[in-house]
Amino acid sequence: MKVNVSGFPVDLKEQADLMKASKENLVKLRSRTEDYTGWVHLPSDIDESLLRDIEETAKEIQGKCTLFVVIGIGGSFLGARAVIEALNKNKPGCPEVVFAGFDMSAAYLERLVKRIATESVCVCVISKSGRTVEPLLTYAVLKDKMFAKYGIAEARRRIYVITDEKKGDLRPDAFENHFKSFSIPDDIGGRYSVLSSVGLLPVAVAGHDIRALLKGADDMSKDPRWEEELLQYAVCRVALQQMGKNVEIFEYFENNLRYFGLWLVQLFGESEGKEGKGAFPTTLNFSRDLHSIGQFIQQGHQIFYETMISIEKKKHDFVIPWQAGYPYAGKTLEQINDCSEQGVVIAHLKAGVPVGIIEMPEVSEYHLGQLLYFFEVSAAISAYDLGLNPFDQPGVEFYKAEMKQLVEAL
Ligand code: PA5
Repeated sequence: MKVNVSGFPVDLKEQADLMKASKENLVKLRSRTEDYTGWVHLPSDIDESLLRDIEETAKEIQGKCTLFVVIGIGGSFLGARAVIEALNKNKPGCPEVVFAGFDMSAAYLERLVKRIATESVCVCVISKSGRTVEPLLTYAVLKDKMFAKYGIAEARRRIYVITDEKKGDLRPDAFENHFKSFSIPDDIGGRYSVLSSVGLLPVAVAGHDIRALLKGADDMSKDPRWEEELLQYAVCRVALQQMGKNVEIFEYFENNLRYFGLWLVQLFGESEGKEGKGAFPTTLNFSRDLHSIGQFIQQGHQIFYETMISIEKKKHDFVIPWQAGYPYAGKTLEQINDCSEQGVVIAHLKAGVPVGIIEMPEVSEYHLGQLLYFFEVSAAISAYDLGLNPFDQPGVEFYKAEMKQLVEAL
């Protein structure tokens, strides 16, 4: 992985103070003294017996079903979904992993319930608090369907729970029903939990190599070269925000990265977006969005900067047949996609849009592990640089309180 910040109009020499603060914040993050920083050392600290348990449970699930329904919202689903989609979904012969409980769409739930009736299913509910409305409502519906379809004994073998060790409503539920369960460590919050059982179990069920994912993150955490690049990236982002760039676009030229983009939106949005600070994070899927919002980026109100994720070696490709004509015929789709990517970088830089590029050698478990870890550390450092606590989300509670009152009045 390479981080290219040359397209950000930030003179790093002029940012010596911010660089010093970022370095200190990285030390603080690694010190094991700060709340909610258990994820920092997780790639190397993770227990071998836990890893084996996750792998064996995943194998057991693979043997039992063709459809694995993961219920969760925010950090309890976006990381797993980002990785599975980036890796082009489940490996052949492994269950299809589908997600639920990330909103309250009855239409979506109805389609899922129909599939549960006809397919061989296992369900996993993930919620650290065990109190989040969307997953809990979905879980109540699907648990009921599972018990009705399979009967108590078999349904109990097909439902899995990932939640806090002691707190919340899911832990007693798992205990009473003898559901197989995993605990989310106390010192790891939702959006930083992808490398815990929260992300690892669904990714393993889809047939992907969770040890490679962790190895990528672990290698990144120990390599001084990444440290330098990561600090430069964090400093540039904060400096750009201080220059009035209030929107950050996370973009890619690979549709499979769209959930990675949404994972980034949550990570940065909830870590930095408080006390009137932070850039509003959004995500774009190119070249699709070049034909809609591309116009605004090129010539609209210049309030943004871009972080582009670029993939060097593509695993999938097509040769364009002669019917496409000159200059496309005989070239491959990915060659042309690359030209689109390079063209965008040149055009946006010429238009004065700041563009930073994260170059990923290929989309593999190892490199996704690197990327996840890189962005997690980067988000935590920039939030600290802004004088914020990266690990809380007090604003989220306000709408929940309003909603609860309205539900009680029904
Ligand atoms: O980052 C966070 O902590 C949140 O976005 C949570 O992941 C999200 O609210 C889901 O919470 P829970 O896992 O408790 O259901």
